[in-house]
Amino acid sequence: MADKIRFALFGAKRGESFARILSYFNNTELVAVCDVSKDSIESVKEFCSEDARFYEDYEDMLNSGGIDAVILCNYFNEHAPAAIMALKKGIAVFSETIPAVTLRECVELCRAVEETNALYMLAENYPYMKGPMYMKKLYESKNLGKVVYADGEYVHPMSADKYEYYTPHTKHWRAVMPSTYYLTHSLAPLMHITGAMPVAVNAKCVYSDKTEWELEGELKKDVGAAIFCEMDNGAIFHITGWAKYAPHGTWYRLCCMNGGAETLRNDTNRVRVTYNDWNVPNKESTESIILSNFGDGSAANKAGHGGGDYWVMNEFIDAFMNKKEPFFNVYKAAAMSAVGILAWRSSMNSGKEYKIPNFFDEQDRKKYENDMLSPFVNAQGEVTYPRSKYDSIAFEKEF
Ligand SMILES: NC(=O)c1ccc[n+]([C@@H]2O[C@H](COP(=O)([O-])OP(=O)(O)OC[C@H]3O[C@@H](n4cnc5c(N)ncnc54)[C@H](O)[C@@H]3O)[C@@H](O)[C@H]2O)c1
Repeated sequence: MADKIRFALFGAKRGESFARILSYFNNTELVAVCDVSKDSIESVKEFCSEDARFYEDYEDMLNSGGIDAVILCNYFNEHAPAAIMALKKGIAVFSETIPAVTLRECVELCRAVEETNALYMLAENYPYMKGPMYMKKLYESKNLGKVVYADGEYVHPMSADKYEYYTPHTKHWRAVMPSTYYLTHSLAPLMHITGAMPVAVNAKCVYSDKTEWELEGELKKDVGAAIFCEMDNGAIFHITGWAKYAPHGTWYRLCCMNGGAETLRNDTNRVRVTYNDWNVPNKESTESIILSNFGDGSAANKAGHGGGDYWVMNEFIDAFMNKKEPFFNVYKAAAMSAVGILAWRSSMNSGKEYKIPNFFDEQDRKKYENDMLSPFVNAQGEVTYPRSKYDSIAFEKEF
């Protein structure tokens, strides 16, 4: 193996952040970039190796050789086929969210990782922010006791200008995506802190009148979701998906049997820790507010999303170099995709409960291998599931 990991980048818009982060590590180099947008390519050139190659076609880039790992920052709904293509060429995959948009893709992704034995990791950055990392250390100390309930909120409304920048037209994934699909920022930190896996889901989506940020001609969609995940330890986690109501903010809370912990509403670096006054652990107080020192003094301070972009990349590099299984491996990635997919179905079916497939088990996977329902356009140009309760296809069929 070369002394540096030779990275390729697919999608140089969000990908620009990861290109910059690679430059903070001395054991990586960015040797190839693919994007149809010349402006996006220009924006990452300063982070590339001297002899880097640039492509408009993804397969051409993968076939060019000399690539150890690919970072997938292409469109939200097109990650799984791109990941599988790379894995089958023996290239490790670091994939932006969401990992897969159908249950069939989840199954195919798990099988591809098992067949190729190549490294796959979801590039989910929010768990690696300062506050959630403090909560993980605290939960693992066992002072709080067993988690029984948790909240994860990702609330990100946008101004009309910002929305238009990120959503250039009405067919773009951000214009058609139900909010449940963008769930990893609300669920993944809770899974990382507690180690719990989702086993069932119920959801109701929140609708509102058309907002100023929607594009002319855009379908009326939900502005958030109340998703309830039953976890494999019996706890219930309540998450939002991508909510667009006000006010903006990211928030995590753990409710445990001895005490609780939550990030502050206006500062994800600080954590409020509280105990029932009859079981405060030795040397602790009933209530304290702690500034997390996770990652202090490191290059992470220059990175986006509260340092999360740096630490998630650090975890991938560590997994690659030391042949470790990353926390957000293909099974956790597939389970989170399934929560997003089935929460949307639940919402379209009056909050009905759906079981999350056990993606470790080939017998269970077989039940879902032909489930291709999706609100996103598929390779044949079809949409097979409603994108809104106001979508005409919601009235044509029963799902
Ligand atoms: N984790 C985070 O904090 C975070 C933040 C922003 C975006 N994202 C994720 O990053 C991904 C990309 O989002 P984005 O904000 O960059 O917007 P985007 O999806 O509009 O941009 C995708 C980029 O990939 C290029 N691209 C897509 N398909 C291509 C193809 N077949 N050939 C060549 N180029 C292609 C586009 O030209 C564009 O530059 C999404 O999955 C999104 O969820 C994550």
